[in-house]
Amino acid sequence: MPNILIVTNCPSENTRTLQQAVLKGCRNDCLDETSARCREAWDADAEDVIWCDGIIIGTTENFGYMSGAVKDFFERIYYPCLGITEGKPVALYVKGGLDGQGARASMERIVTGLKWKSIQPVLILKGEFRSEFVRQCEELGMTMAAGLEAGIY
Ligand SMILES: Cc1cc2nc3c(=O)[nH]c(=O)nc-3n(C[C@H](O)[C@H](O)[C@H](O)COP(=O)(O)O)c2cc1C
Repeated sequence: MPNILIVTNCPSENTRTLQQAVLKGCRNDCLDETSARCREAWDADAEDVIWCDGIIIGTTENFGYMSGAVKDFFERIYYPCLGITEGKPVALYVKGGLDGQGARASMERIVTGLKWKSIQPVLILKGEFRSEFVRQCEELGMTMAAGLEAGIY
């Protein structure tokens, strides 16, 4: 039963909807039971990261960068996790207003430093909120859960 950690900042109803869609995807009925857990970025810590077999991190783009909450998460877990979480499967998503590239690049740099393994390109959700975003987040969760269960990461 793979453990999946979902770390997000959710400042709005839309971002909460996306977080819940990721969680739903991780817990999809087609898969064996997965132990998936959501943590607000401010609350997540290195123990949570070490606990999980795969991690999904979602941020809003703020001022051309990841959110302050997600940056704080990375700052707190980086050195405690460095060297002992290498190869951890990770999936990233960004909820932007009109862009998202700054948040993508800033998270990718850190994930590269940690030597985590991205399971797919960063999902960037921008522009007017669409139901497609919810489906894409659910798929992201499902992809992580299915891949871990199949042992392909
Ligand atoms: C302080 C602040 C800075 C922001 N900066 C950016 C930005 O640089 N690029 C971008 O695409 N969106 C930016 N946004 C928009 C947020 O990403 C957006 O509000 C967030 O994804 C929540 O989306 P929602 O309004 O659909 O709930 C910013 C929002 C705030 C509050």
